[in-house]
Amino acid sequence: MSGEDLTLFAGGSAWSPSSWRSKPARHQPAWPDAAEIEQATKALHDLPPLVFAGEARSLTGHLGRVADGEAFLLQAGDCAESFDSSADSIRDRLRVILQMAIVLTYSGGVPLVKVGRIAGQFAKPRSSPTETVGEVELPSFLGHMVNDIGFSEAERLPDPRRLLTAYHRAASTLNLLRAFTRGGYADLSRVASWNREFVASSPAGRRYSRMAEEIDRALRFMTACGVTTANTPQLHEVEFYTSHEALVLDYEEALTREDSTTGDWYDCSAHMLWIGERTRQLDGAHVEFLRGVRNPLGCKVGPTATADEVVALCELLNPQRVPGRLTLITRMGAGRIGTLLPPLLRAVRDSGHPVAWACDPMHGNTYTSESGRKTRHFDDVLAEISGFFAAHTACGTWPGGVHVELTGDAVTECVGGADKLIDADLERAFETLCDPRLNGRQSVDLAFRVAEMLSDRR
Ligand code: PEP
Ligand code: CO
Repeated sequence: MSGEDLTLFAGGSAWSPSSWRSKPARHQPAWPDAAEIEQATKALHDLPPLVFAGEARSLTGHLGRVADGEAFLLQAGDCAESFDSSADSIRDRLRVILQMAIVLTYSGGVPLVKVGRIAGQFAKPRSSPTETVGEVELPSFLGHMVNDIGFSEAERLPDPRRLLTAYHRAASTLNLLRAFTRGGYADLSRVASWNREFVASSPAGRRYSRMAEEIDRALRFMTACGVTTANTPQLHEVEFYTSHEALVLDYEEALTREDSTTGDWYDCSAHMLWIGERTRQLDGAHVEFLRGVRNPLGCKVGPTATADEVVALCELLNPQRVPGRLTLITRMGAGRIGTLLPPLLRAVRDSGHPVAWACDPMHGNTYTSESGRKTRHFDDVLAEISGFFAAHTACGTWPGGVHVELTGDAVTECVGGADKLIDADLERAFETLCDPRLNGRQSVDLAFRVAEMLSDRR
């Protein structure tokens, strides 16, 4: 660590991109060969940044409006992205997120901040380090950044060369997203065309269709007044940001760069990074690493979090109290949010910390179905969001957003929703690499329900 790498934070201790190495780091891969991991991180270090500091600063600004109660965050995407995602699958995931965003903006009546769990969500913390099938015990699948999902010793061995593949997959995904969001695909006049495969085949699709007709009518009126999607960038393009869990710190450190205009450090692997529920220890390596980069940060907050711990996280991660710097993503479970969330909201409110609050209604509501599949019920997802809104209303705070796992593919991984999927349907198209995701119809359905909660709140 060189002298100039050190940054001294007001009241904090010295930070550098590698200072996390002196702290306990949970959920790191057991790389089998020290020389190989060194070679891979060195190669990553020499590659261009994936995102720019200025973009991360813009997102902090938008999230600051969420913290101030003036905008709503939609953070959504895959649980674990695959190296094998096709361009169509990436486009369809983006399309569902854009559809949800339109529903929330139009029916909910608030500006939306759109952040994908995409272009880098390749690493997973697992509850058990090993998986046993019959007599065979192997390392768990830790995401395509680390190993492969196939159940053999060779496939499950952590391979540092995957860090480089993760970088290149992230770069090509990001390139596609930039093209779709800037190149006309996201033009507001296309809202109806995004819905082609939903129309008439699901209640959420029909509801979406009616909304798209109203938007078209409004656009025709505006065109008659001289405001067209062609001459108005806000109607022609979408600001879309990327995020992932900053889990594998070798990867994140290697993509951390000093911004030449400000001298600040940014983790240039994504615009926003979050700390997972399993790695948010106050004295742990993940908090240490992320406190020093200037990207907007998320931190998951689960049922065991105490009010003191959450306020301490705010102090460590946002000592300068910058609105938009920190989003706390709560994931309590539908049955417990009503009792667990209000004390945290009050403690953070009373500490004066500006926090954007988002609800992850997925990770506290996972259960094993009778057929042995890990699944989630749409009604529990909805109930947790409803409890989130109620807790914020009771505490006088702003329910700032939702964080969901979804795909645009026609999977059957979560039960319930307008199509009333049941346990028996899970066998049909259960494709996830990790947690069960909402499919396109369930996602659009969810957006309408959240939009109702939002417009009631306003
Ligand atoms: C996730 O977001 O995929 C995840 C593992 O969540 P959590 O850290 O909240 O368990
Ligand atoms: Co998940």
